[in-house]
Amino acid sequence: MRLAVVGVALLAILAAGGGAQRTGIGAALAADAGGQLYGKECGACHMPYPPMMLPARSWHTLISGLNRHFGENASLDPQTAQTIAGYLSTNAADARGSRAMEGLGPNDVPLRITDTPFWIDAHEGVSAKRFTAPAVRSKSNCLACHRDKGGGGGGD
Ligand code: HEC
Ligand code: HEC
Repeated sequence: MRLAVVGVALLAILAAGGGAQRTGIGAALAADAGGQLYGKECGACHMPYPPMMLPARSWHTLISGLNRHFGENASLDPQTAQTIAGYLSTNAADARGSRAMEGLGPNDVPLRITDTPFWIDAHEGVSAKRFTAPAVRSKSNCLACHRDKGGGGGGD
């Protein structure tokens, strides 16, 4: 029951500026070409992570190292990479005034959302066992726990 509420809470938590953006973990991506491309290319192996969970400098570093991406080759052609980088930096944590910037120093360039102080704090109360459970397996598998696909239904 509790988890069903988490996604809704993200609206308030992340959008510190109070904008009307849909910022939940599984929120629809921007309908513009960059958002579409991001969802397609960066959602092929895992969910397209919310851009506002990392600063633009992190997204740029990730995009420049796609040939060595967490043990995978996720390379893109330069044009596609550039479009996606533009989308990510426009919607990044620092660009959006997101609370995901909390605790990050100006020189910190986290390459994982799950390494940011904000994420670590938010999950302090979640037992380590829940991340290694067979249905989850990785901290990076956000949607295993966060279901805010919208519409009705509620949790599982
Ligand atoms: C070929 C598969 C593949 C593609 C395509 C891919 N990734 Fe990944 N990505 C991975 C794997 C594997 C991990 C590590 C997941 C884990 O540790 O459970 C990962 C992790 C990440 C993480 C860190 C998640 C965390 O723990 O906080 C980010 C951020 C990320 N990817 C961004 C991107 C972006 C941006 C793109 C598109 C440019 C992309 N990925 C495309 C395979 C891929
Ligand atoms: C094992 C399940 C699990 C996974 C995997 C997980 N989360 Fe969470 N997350 C939670 C729970 C439970 C909470 C609420 C913690 C609390 O209230 O004490 C939470 C809280 C949060 C919050 C803060 C919301 C609030 O109301 O304070 C954010 C943001 C968040 N998660 C994002 C993510 C992202 C992004 C990922 C993937 C990179 C992720 N989570 C992966 C279970 C998970």
